[in-house]
Amino acid sequence: MKTLITGGTVVNATGRTAADVLVDGEKVVAVLAPGSTLLGFDLAANVDRIIDATGKYVIPGGIDAHTHMELPFGGTFASDTFETGTRAAAWGGTTSIIDFAVQTAGQRIEDGLEAWHAKAAGNCAVDYGFHQIVGGVDEASLAALTRLPDEGVTSFKMFMAYPGVFYSGDGQILRAMQVAAEHGLLPMMHAENGPAIDVLAEQLVAQGKTDPYYHGVARVWQMEEEATHRAIMLADVAQSPLYIVHVSAKQAVAQIAAARDRGQRVFAETCPQYLYLGLEEHLGAPDFEGAKYVCSPPLRSTSDEHQDHMWQGLRTNDLQMVATDHCPFCQTGQKELGLGDFRKIPNGMGTVEHRMDLVYQGVVSGKITLERWVELCSTTPARMFGLEGTKGVIAPGADADIVVYDPAGHTSIGFEKTHHMAIDHSSWEGFEIDGHVDTVLSRGSVVIDGGEFHGRAGHGSFLRRGASTYPA
Ligand code: URP
Ligand code: ZN
Ligand code: ZN
Repeated sequence: MKTLITGGTVVNATGRTAADVLVDGEKVVAVLAPGSTLLGFDLAANVDRIIDATGKYVIPGGIDAHTHMELPFGGTFASDTFETGTRAAAWGGTTSIIDFAVQTAGQRIEDGLEAWHAKAAGNCAVDYGFHQIVGGVDEASLAALTRLPDEGVTSFKMFMAYPGVFYSGDGQILRAMQVAAEHGLLPMMHAENGPAIDVLAEQLVAQGKTDPYYHGVARVWQMEEEATHRAIMLADVAQSPLYIVHVSAKQAVAQIAAARDRGQRVFAETCPQYLYLGLEEHLGAPDFEGAKYVCSPPLRSTSDEHQDHMWQGLRTNDLQMVATDHCPFCQTGQKELGLGDFRKIPNGMGTVEHRMDLVYQGVVSGKITLERWVELCSTTPARMFGLEGTKGVIAPGADADIVVYDPAGHTSIGFEKTHHMAIDHSSWEGFEIDGHVDTVLSRGSVVIDGGEFHGRAGHGSFLRRGASTYPA
C-alpha cells in the first residue's frame, strides 16, 4: 500500500517545509518538494491512496511516554484498558504510548513485565512500549534490572511517594541508580516526600479536613522540591542520568534547571494538568467534584505562577517533554472510594486523548513554536526513550506514524462530544481547542480519518526500545 500525503506543511522538531510525504507500507520513504516526480514517476498517479493535507500540518505522531492502563491503585484499577486507552490515544493524534509495567515488593520483575505483556498484546490500536515500575528494590530486582535492556525495556520508575505501595527508601534508590549507571538504563523518579506527606495527610483528616482539596494541601510543593533535590543528589552520587516524571511545582523546575546548569544529565516532563488546571478551581470544586482532579503531585495554586513556570521550562528546555500520566478512574465506584477521606481517592486523571491538542494551544498563544510542540510531544520522547530514527520524525526510514493536523479546525472537548476514554467524566470538559486532529496514520495504516476510527485492536506492536539517545 502506497500513500501520498500532499499539499501540507511537514513539521519536524528541526523545522517546517511545504512537502509531500510518500509512505510505502509501514515506512516513510520520501519527503519531496510539492508535486515532485520520483525517478520520472508521477507519484500521484502511482499510489493507492492520496491524502490531501492542503492548509494543514503534517507532523510525526505523538508519543505519550507516561501512561498507566489498568494500573492497580487504591484497591481498584485504572479504567482504561490497553484497547480503550490506545484507541483514545489515536483519536488525539498519539500513535505510541509507553506504559508502566508494575513490580511490587516481593514480586519478580520478570513476572510483572510478563503480566503487562499479557494485558497489552493483541489489544492495542497503536504501538506501545513499557517502562518498568520497581516497587520493591532488593537483590533479585536489582539483578533483574540488568536484564531489562534485552527485553526492550530501558527505563524504570521508582517512587519516593506512596509508602507501603511503591515507595523506595534512599538507600534502595541509590543502589538502583548505580545499576542504571552501569547498565545504560534511565531511572525515572516520582519525586514527592511520601512519609512526610502521610503525616500531614493524617493530621488533616484528624481535623476533619477530608475533602479532595486537602489532597493538595498535604502534598505541598516543599515535598516535591525536597524530593526532586534529593533524587538529583542521589543520581549525582551514582553518576546516573535521571528523568523526573510529572513535574508540577516551579520550585522543582528550579532544582532541575540548577542541576542541568551544573552539567548533570537530569531530564524532566510536565503534564497538561500542570499547565492548565488549578488547586482552588479544580481540586477545590464542591460536592466531591474535586475528586476528578486528584492526582499526584497535586494541582498547584494558580496564584503562585506554577503554570507560567511550566510553560517557561518547556520553552527554555529546563523541561524537555510533555506526557500525560494518563491514569483514569471513574467518579462512580472508583473516585468515590475516597468520600469522607481524600487519602482513599485513587490518584490519577485521564488525558491521553487530549495531549496533542492541549499542548498545541501553547503554539496558538505564542508560548512555544510549532517545531517545539512537535519536539515536546514526539521527537524528544522518541530520543529520550530509545526510539530515535523510528519514531518522532517524518523522514525516510521512519515509521509512518503521521498526523494531519488542521490549524483552522476546532475541537470542543466534552464527555458527550469527543470522549473516547473509558471514564465516566472528562477532566477537560469545556476546553475549546483551536486546531483539530484530522487524519492519523499508525505505521502506514489510517486509524483516524473523517471523524471515524478505522483502526483495530491488535494493530499496535510492542516497541523494543534501545538506550536513550537524548541528548545525542
Ligand atoms: O496521580 C497519579 N500520578 N497517578 C498515577 C501514578 C503515578 O504516580 O504516576
Ligand atoms: Zn508518579
Ligand atoms: Zn504516573
